[in-house]
Amino acid sequence: MRIREGELDEDNLPLEEIENLSYYNFMGHLEVPFYQIGGLASTEKLAELCHVNEGKKVLVVGCGTGFNACYIAKKFGCSVVGVDIAEEAIKKTKERAEKEDLGDKVEFRVGDAYDLPFEPDTFDAVITQSVSYFLDMGRALKEFMRVLKPGGYVGINEIFKDKDMPPKIAEEILKAEQIIGEITELPFTIHTPEDWKQWLENAGLKEVKIHENRKPMSLREFPQVIKEIGGFGKFSKIMIKITKYALVSKVIRERFRKLIKAKRVLVGSPLFQTATSRHVGYVLGIGKKV
Ligand SMILES: C[S@@+](CC[C@H](N)C(=O)[O-])C[C@H]1O[C@@H](n2cnc3c(N)ncnc32)[C@H](O)[C@@H]1O
Repeated sequence: MRIREGELDEDNLPLEEIENLSYYNFMGHLEVPFYQIGGLASTEKLAELCHVNEGKKVLVVGCGTGFNACYIAKKFGCSVVGVDIAEEAIKKTKERAEKEDLGDKVEFRVGDAYDLPFEPDTFDAVITQSVSYFLDMGRALKEFMRVLKPGGYVGINEIFKDKDMPPKIAEEILKAEQIIGEITELPFTIHTPEDWKQWLENAGLKEVKIHENRKPMSLREFPQVIKEIGGFGKFSKIMIKITKYALVSKVIRERFRKLIKAKRVLVGSPLFQTATSRHVGYVLGIGKKV
């Protein structure tokens, strides 16, 4: 079965093929920009903490469709390289970079956090945002350290959960983690701020700092996000595509239903916090390679 020629699916892929895409390839196919809980303000803050400025070379690991990576390049005038394991997402990053006229300021390629396709001591900063919960951080940080120049920074912008919480809440959060793991087909574990400090220090990073944030998602950033996505027309096009896929495919509909439920447990919604989401926030963590 084909969904609709042209407008809905420019690549004209059969629905079965789209249903079989891994979650992040599917998101890449839809050109969905990933928007972490702290929003673009947290991306900006993380880059500042990593001393990113014009002339610096930044690696964004797990760049998805390149939304945040392009934002960093534009905001700071630095050069940005993004890698991600999802090929479909990388295809879209290239289109985004062209549309945003970023020229040789950005470069994207398929790459694995555990085996980065770069020479040692290449980058001034290595950044991940909403990625590390999929990773074995011991292995990944070793690889980040390899490609980082001495004096460079590792920066993480990641969701955390409290170390101590009522058992019923902990159980609900764990269930949501399992659901996200099943849907993305990637191991998914949310760490505590204490874990993060330990990971970064164990990797040999110095001057490690962990900034805890519990600010819920803000609707105030919405206009900025729409602008970054490419305007209201582009945003509507993505939403229409998602809705159409959800209508025609039970598999995709179920996937979204479960995911929305799990996300509500973890981060609530822009309009309300859930009892569970009060125990979840995001950390900005940095450390310096000396
Ligand atoms: C929630 S998205 C985050 C997107 C991104 N940080 C952004 O700014 O748009 C998680 C991303 O991590 C990527 N990912 C997961 N495991 C990875 C790995 N081992 N190496 C590289 N990327 C990975 C996924 O493909 C996905 O695109």
